Amino acid sequence: MKMEAFPPVEGNYNLQNYEEMYEKFQWDQAEEQFSWHTTGKVNLAYEAVDRHAEGSKKDKAALCYLSSTRNETYTFNDLKQMTNKAGNVLRTKAGVKKGDRVFIFMPRSPELYFALLGVIKIGAIVGPLFEAFMEDAVRDRLYDSSAKVLITTPELLERVPVQDLPALETIFLIGENIEEKDQYVDYQKHFQEASAQLDIEWVERTDGLILHYTSGSTGKPKGVLHVHNAMVQHYQSAKWVLDLQEDDIYWCTADPGWVTGTSYGIFGPWLTGTTNIVAGGRFSPEGWYKTIESFGVTVWYSAPTSFRMLMAAGEPALKSHNLTSLRHVLSVGEPLNPEVIRWGQESFKKRIHDTWWMTETGAQLICNYPCMELRLGSMGKPLPGVEAAILDDEGNILPPNQMGNLAIKKGWPSLMHTIWNNQEKYDSYFPFSDWYVSGDSAYMDEEGYFWFQGRVDDVIMTAGERVGPFEVESKLIEHPAVAEAGVIGKPDHIRGEIIKAFVALNDGYTESDQLKEEIRHFVKTGLAAHSAPREIEFCEKIPKTRSGKIMRRVLKAWELGLPTGDLSTLED
Ligand code: WTA
Repeated sequence: MKMEAFPPVEGNYNLQNYEEMYEKFQWDQAEEQFSWHTTGKVNLAYEAVDRHAEGSKKDKAALCYLSSTRNETYTFNDLKQMTNKAGNVLRTKAGVKKGDRVFIFMPRSPELYFALLGVIKIGAIVGPLFEAFMEDAVRDRLYDSSAKVLITTPELLERVPVQDLPALETIFLIGENIEEKDQYVDYQKHFQEASAQLDIEWVERTDGLILHYTSGSTGKPKGVLHVHNAMVQHYQSAKWVLDLQEDDIYWCTADPGWVTGTSYGIFGPWLTGTTNIVAGGRFSPEGWYKTIESFGVTVWYSAPTSFRMLMAAGEPALKSHNLTSLRHVLSVGEPLNPEVIRWGQESFKKRIHDTWWMTETGAQLICNYPCMELRLGSMGKPLPGVEAAILDDEGNILPPNQMGNLAIKKGWPSLMHTIWNNQEKYDSYFPFSDWYVSGDSAYMDEEGYFWFQGRVDDVIMTAGERVGPFEVESKLIEHPAVAEAGVIGKPDHIRGEIIKAFVALNDGYTESDQLKEEIRHFVKTGLAAHSAPREIEFCEKIPKTRSGKIMRRVLKAWELGLPTGDLSTLED
């Protein structure tokens, strides 16, 4: 197959010479950026906010928020005061201390960002929850982490099973006319009264910062714990990969409920003192192009599904907006199709730079840089300071062009610290001691470019969101009609994959479209809209191993009309 490539881009980029930097860079060089390099005291929120508020960026716009009802701008100095107030409310009204878990479950709004950094400022561990989560998803996360405090809205409170959460002491409600009783506290009232002066909690580099729950192929979602030290890589990758510079207007489209929305929707941009756009509301091509145009967005970080949806929306929306402010565009979360990169080049005359990383890795690891040739379909090359390789199943490094397990040598600053309450799970990422094994399969070409091939396990990536089939199957079988269920990702040209469920019914139930719809709705309202199967197919039985493990590979082969392979472990 012929390889298609775009040449390096000329320009004044932060990373000028990839090879040279790859040779010489060590992570401790990046640490010199931070005040703690001299003081020894660490707090990510201080470095992201107060450091700028106390320096020349005091009056620079930090957060620009736009929704259908609000249009607000906060400077770094404003951000310092707001996050101080949030920290004070949590300390005084809920007694939050270092290491406590404080969850935030609300739509994107300035208050979410203030609260998230406020939690970090007082040394607590923040757990952001995606606003679309339904009751089961909320329960699993708050329960597993023994969350002490939750910040939410009266509307979303319905989905918080308070009675099942014995560790939850205080619930702050953000909204109108909040009645304070029992453990319910009116957040805004106390926020307005709170002092804008705060004693920051200085912590160790290895103290907890944020918990992001993410899905694997088995078990419930697991809590990936990141620590303050991750800021070193958030900062450095924001410089080299996002290429953030003094005058940039940066927009990351991800929600802070996902790792991209925190590492690169909050930490990266603010650690580098960049103006950060936050757009409320849902995706619409018109709305997105308008956001770019009206703010003059220069650096834009999004995902393949969004680009494909913009592509599908066609010329009219595109042509009626001026996108010439864009100077650097990036993508994450799923394979970036060459077709999408060609579209970007045609529509707004920019290369779309793919970046590869995971919730567990905390920050970008394999990326395309403007100073480097872009090979369409490749994820790029490891960040300076990062060693990547393809390993066979015994842990041997494979030569170029051989497919195997994508692995990263331990030693990058943002690697997760642990999996909450689950050391065993954490250890399972390191079967060959020094190497973090990602669960993705890939190969490396002769020039060191990495090419994504797929997941080794059954994890589904749908519209950029990571869904564990087990979670969906577990929810499905809670429905009275469902006897057994097997869930797979089915290739889809817009969403990458969609969730498809094979369902065997209990006796007494009859297959019908209405029942499919009812089952779909059951998952949607119990778990989350993005976890609900778009397709349901009824079948007699779900293929399982003799030990009862669902053979999703067989379901996938059925779906794709491929040979089912070795069936020796099949039940009968
Ligand atoms: C997939 C998102 C292909 C991959 C930051 C990985 C990608 C999983 C890419 C992590 C990419 C992420 N090309 N696949 N550039 N980036 N993935 O934890 O399978 O939500 O293991 O993190 O997304 O998903 P997560």
